[in-house]
Amino acid sequence: KILILDFGSQVTQLIARRIREQSVYCEIHPYTLSLEKIREFAPQGIILSGGPCSVYDADAPHSDAGIYDLGLPVLGICYGMQLMTSQLGGKVERSHKREYGRAAMTIDDTADLFAGLSGKEEVWMSHGDKIELMPRGFSAIAHTDNTPAAAMKDEKRRLYGVQFHPEVVHTPKGAEMLGNFVFNVCGCKPVWTMANFIETEIAAVREKVGSGKVICALSGGVDSSVVAVLLHKAIGDQLQCIFVNNGLLRKGEAEKVVNLFTKHFRINLDYVDASTRFLDKLNGVTDPEKKRKIIGNEFIFLFEEEAKKLGTVDWLAQGTLYPDVIESVSVKGPSSVIKSHHNVGGLPERMKLKLLEPVRELFKDEVRLLGKELGLPDEVIHRQPFPGPGLAIRCIGEITAERLEILRESDAIVLDEIRKAGLYRDIWQSFAVLLPVRSVGVMGDARTYDFTIALRAVNSLDGMTADWVKLPYELLGNISSRIINEVKGVNRVVYDISQKPPATIEWE
Ligand code: XMP
Repeated sequence: KILILDFGSQVTQLIARRIREQSVYCEIHPYTLSLEKIREFAPQGIILSGGPCSVYDADAPHSDAGIYDLGLPVLGICYGMQLMTSQLGGKVERSHKREYGRAAMTIDDTADLFAGLSGKEEVWMSHGDKIELMPRGFSAIAHTDNTPAAAMKDEKRRLYGVQFHPEVVHTPKGAEMLGNFVFNVCGCKPVWTMANFIETEIAAVREKVGSGKVICALSGGVDSSVVAVLLHKAIGDQLQCIFVNNGLLRKGEAEKVVNLFTKHFRINLDYVDASTRFLDKLNGVTDPEKKRKIIGNEFIFLFEEEAKKLGTVDWLAQGTLYPDVIESVSVKGPSSVIKSHHNVGGLPERMKLKLLEPVRELFKDEVRLLGKELGLPDEVIHRQPFPGPGLAIRCIGEITAERLEILRESDAIVLDEIRKAGLYRDIWQSFAVLLPVRSVGVMGDARTYDFTIALRAVNSLDGMTADWVKLPYELLGNISSRIINEVKGVNRVVYDISQKPPATIEWE
């Protein structure tokens, strides 16, 4: 396994993903990790990430220089290379020319790090400082027009540095280079596979849980579904899932979840149909934040009630993922912030439950692979994200059973058409929104005065920014005429062409 020390680069997580994609386990830790902790982790190699600082800044982050004496291979990337240089007695200088973006790099040494590569390679640069003098024992193994030492090594001590970012897609051969480092230099074996993960995680869960009882809130989404199936494989009937139908789910969703988990996987599932209860509480509420609060509180209340009915429970299972766990380093102001995890509203503390987070080492794409390995259907594994408050925040204005039905039917048509067009997996989210606007239309010989449906389809990498999808006109046309013809109460369909920011993905 590989240890990645994070110096605050925006793309540190990509280093981890590129390495895991090659079936080698790695973890990201803040650069402040002590030598003792590093020895305890026992990595086969260390990677120093990039970062926003210059090594000569007064508050520049420094890791313990003892890492170079552990006898382990070390690869410094960008800032990591500059830090290595300055810590080992070389010289880093502010460059007159900032090098940013694509660069053509000539490889001068095709041993180890650049094995299998030759000649010129495209790489992605992003740095203001440059190596003026390499530390003793190092030689340059690649150069660009601007940077004589675009990559360097001390073969004897197995220390390497690259000025460019091999982890980003703009360095086309970057994954190969990282692979060379972990396999050729560090001697890692490609044993981090989901099949192995399942085996070791099952053993770990059994050992941890013993004869204890575990509850899990199932939502039908990827993370909680994978967690439930994995745990069921490990502890069988000691797992009890709770699935709350808040009446704000999409068409047919509750039935699908119940069928899949009880009939197919034979998991203990407590199905709570609380639709009426949620609708009652939401009666007359139009404020988006109030809707969210009511739904969140109600869910916690119900979940806790159900959990209490189950007698003694010891563990609460959660689908926490690795990105939620990584301590993010903020080097401009060297405080490490730990992100708060989404707990079921303080429930673990109140009910004295221990947390079981069996996929907390995994990235989202690994959870999908795991789900596939566990036999979950593609429909679950590749489901588009769906917000906890569900259709409530897509039913603008008042929420009534009738309005929800209009929205639910319209939404089903949107998804059906998007699927038929083969676009479902390529789109981050696609859905219908019911507006509180009525407008005039004609149907047959009669005048109508009905609601408007807005279509929303966006692409995004993480939900933080998003762009509307240029759906084909023909598809838009099909969706529109189907909704207007098939859903009573709608006579107009519009397409939302706003980006996030400044708009958001959801309308509320
Ligand atoms: P916005 O609308 O803020 O949404 O651009 C970003 C992403 O978050 C989802 N979302 C939520 N998910 N509870 C959730 O679990 C919520 O209250 C919530 N609000 C928005 C949204 O679907 C999108 O993927």
